[in-house]
Amino acid sequence: MDALAGLPEATLLRDPASMEPFLRDESHVRGPHPLAVVRPHGPRALRELVRLAKAEGFGLVPRGAGTGKAGGCVPTERTVVVDFSAWPGDIRVSPQDLCLHAPASAPLRDVKAAAESQGLFYPPDPNSWESCSLGGTLATNAGGPNACKYGMTRHWVLSVEALLEDGEIHTFGISSVKANAGPALGQLLIGSEGIFGFIVGATLRLMPLPREYATLLLPVKHWEDLLDLPGRLCGAGFLPSAFEFFDPAVLAELRAHGPEEARRLPGEALAILEFDERGCTSEPFLEALHDLLGPVAEGLVIASDARQRNGIWAVRRMTSAFLKERHPKKVSEDIVVPRSRLRDFFAGLDQLGIPAVTYGHLGDGNLHVNLLAAGETEPALLAGQLMGLFRLAVSLGGTLSGEHGIGLAKREAFLALSDPAQLQALRAIKHALDPAGIFNPGKVI
Ligand code: LAC
Ligand code: ZN
Repeated sequence: MDALAGLPEATLLRDPASMEPFLRDESHVRGPHPLAVVRPHGPRALRELVRLAKAEGFGLVPRGAGTGKAGGCVPTERTVVVDFSAWPGDIRVSPQDLCLHAPASAPLRDVKAAAESQGLFYPPDPNSWESCSLGGTLATNAGGPNACKYGMTRHWVLSVEALLEDGEIHTFGISSVKANAGPALGQLLIGSEGIFGFIVGATLRLMPLPREYATLLLPVKHWEDLLDLPGRLCGAGFLPSAFEFFDPAVLAELRAHGPEEARRLPGEALAILEFDERGCTSEPFLEALHDLLGPVAEGLVIASDARQRNGIWAVRRMTSAFLKERHPKKVSEDIVVPRSRLRDFFAGLDQLGIPAVTYGHLGDGNLHVNLLAAGETEPALLAGQLMGLFRLAVSLGGTLSGEHGIGLAKREAFLALSDPAQLQALRAIKHALDPAGIFNPGKVI
């Protein structure tokens, strides 16, 4: 594709070896070689790329740090990967407006640190937060443990700047939580996985940094005892900032083969609860929590000193990579059900006889169901198991993805399980915003 050679404000990668890392993300999906990988350094590159994509009939695939888990940034046939890692701009915090502006290329770690340096907090915390880019989290509406209390990425976005099909960058929203002049078009872009346009920057909402953390380890003998707890806690006015868990199989594997910190983890199954409101480390708070939990709290351990807390979170955060290393062909899902239906979900999973191990965000009903033997399972059988899993989540008022999105990995299931009227509306919006079909073709819908 010689037309790309003269692209202004851009770095170009074209030889197959240097494009190799761009063929996949952290899902099990792998794409074909793209026509090129383009790293834009300014708006002129994007303007020209859009013009060329329309004229030459190729697609554009956006890419942040490649830590996505649904294949959203993986190239499809006849596409150019647009790698935003060199997109210019600084992180600017405005304490008075309780917000921060950052380019899509900013590492999420730096965004969170910039807020913290001013005593402020940006809550979204996908497990890849030390390696992912802000742009990727916006495009996928990333979640994480803190979503239990603070919601998803989309709940923290005041405005976005996005490249649209006219080749220009447009701003949606203002630097205030109060912006109600018409529907929130910017929210359409968050979690759209780049099918309507590409996000190049955003203004994010901040709040004061929590000053107190109560981190609790809750080991249990019968892991089903954990399943009613998220609903019971919320119903009684306790809202943890995180409520994670490992089922017996995941915990046993971590204990046997995981890092040093994991070897000492107690229980047959284990929950990690964290509270971050003022007073959460006080005796009255912890006593009330103990009373509410009842007999299940027998082994409760408070791990609030920084070293213990960091150790526990390090184990939780490496779980996905750890399982992947031990079971390279595993398939990991991220279904969600309302927290009041967790018990029904696991009963249903049992009935379906799906051989899965589970860990994840129990507090908000978002479960990482892992089919470790996926690589050795006959493809039609595996597809049937996954569809059974998705249908179960939907039947309980949940959905097939709580935080990772659809991308390529879940596209077929998404099309099969969604309300046809909603799919039609999505396609109409796609056509209106991207009539030439240049933005991330073949993804989501
Ligand atoms: C996690 C990733 C898989 O929570 O979302 O570990
Ligand atoms: Zn997760």
